[in-house]
Amino acid sequence: MCPRCGREYEIDPYRFRCDKCGELLDAELLLENVHIDLERIKRERWIGVWAFREFLPKVADIVTLREGNTPLLKLLKVNGNAYVKFEGANPTGSFKDRGMTVGVSIAKSIGARYIIVASTGNTAASAAAYAARGGLTCLIVIPRGGIARGKLAQAVLHGAKIVEVSGTFDNALSLVLESLSKIGKRGLVYPLNSINVWRLEGQKTIAYEIFLDVGVPDYVIVPVGNAGNIYAIWKGFEELRRLGLIDHVPKMIGVQAEGASPIAKAWQLGLKEPLFTSSPKTVASAIRIGKPVNWYRAWRAVEKSGGMFITVTDEEILQAQRLLGREGIGVEPASAASLAGYLKLLQEGIIDRKDLCVLIATGHGLKDPDIILNLSYESIQVSSPEELVRIMLSEQQQTDVIVIKR
Ligand SMILES: Cc1ncc(COP(=O)(O)O)c(C=O)c1O
Ligand SMILES: [Zn+2]
Repeated sequence: MCPRCGREYEIDPYRFRCDKCGELLDAELLLENVHIDLERIKRERWIGVWAFREFLPKVADIVTLREGNTPLLKLLKVNGNAYVKFEGANPTGSFKDRGMTVGVSIAKSIGARYIIVASTGNTAASAAAYAARGGLTCLIVIPRGGIARGKLAQAVLHGAKIVEVSGTFDNALSLVLESLSKIGKRGLVYPLNSINVWRLEGQKTIAYEIFLDVGVPDYVIVPVGNAGNIYAIWKGFEELRRLGLIDHVPKMIGVQAEGASPIAKAWQLGLKEPLFTSSPKTVASAIRIGKPVNWYRAWRAVEKSGGMFITVTDEEILQAQRLLGREGIGVEPASAASLAGYLKLLQEGIIDRKDLCVLIATGHGLKDPDIILNLSYESIQVSSPEELVRIMLSEQQQTDVIVIKR
């Protein structure tokens, strides 16, 4: 269904936009057809995303790596009531796997031979792995020099064909969309970039898992790039509400990096549309996006939930990343934006320390090792066991790595 003009369409794996107004279409779960057996779901939680199959599109062939069922970890060192949903625990290390299992299953079920994505990295890594698992060829279009090395390595490992374009993610996405319109042939290549609504259907399972773990939080805080995930999580809660399993949804907080905040800046200025930019800048490459394609659905979700969009600086993001690291939770910079946002809203008194908050940690720290090492790698050299013992037992805590010289 079109969220802007209300026009309804039959289910079609290739239809993403409304013919009438051009808006991206939403997938409507027909609640009258859904029977939810919560006890069965709880028993089968270990399966992950497909434990929630009643909420997902019906596919003939499921391509899975057992994604989902990620841990919800209480934050121990921050004075508050916050939990981290650690999506880094997914098979390729990000929440993208939840959507990719659905998207690649559809591709396989309709007999496609190729899938294609534009990506800031995590989508590429995930698409490559799921295509490999499903026996499909994966084409990836990425901004040259704009993706973290861990993600590129994953795409290479899983055998994707990789194409680089100059410019940003937005250029990569335009190229994919243009090339698809030139192929024109349905069924051969299946597009799994951010306008594919079926991926978001998989991502909404984050909400169901949070609900099973802690009920309805007061706030769910999400890093925002293309703005699909925050909508997907809201949609998951909204479906639970419509099914009568909960009576309200959490306030959704979208966090963007200051240098890449087309939605959050417009929101704060009281505008009705994002301030798109062609030169987004932030250390957090996964959310370095100037023209978020899912902005409309994300805006609506945040508005309806009573939440807001905010910005955080790169420095705040990196501090939050370090803080999580010191709790044993390793995330990439983009993912730390949710903790940075939480700390900011606590400080501003918008969120109370007693409010139950869930911070979505979208991707694993190993995705982007260069950021971590370039910023905080110090070493001490030692030449004797005595010296090593002295360092080991000293209270000083600056050193990250100890190199032994023999
Ligand atoms: C680690 C990470 N965090 C956040 C995001 C942003 O998600 P979305 O584009 O759905 O807003 C992405 C998307 O690439 C990501 O990879
Ligand atoms: Zn429309």
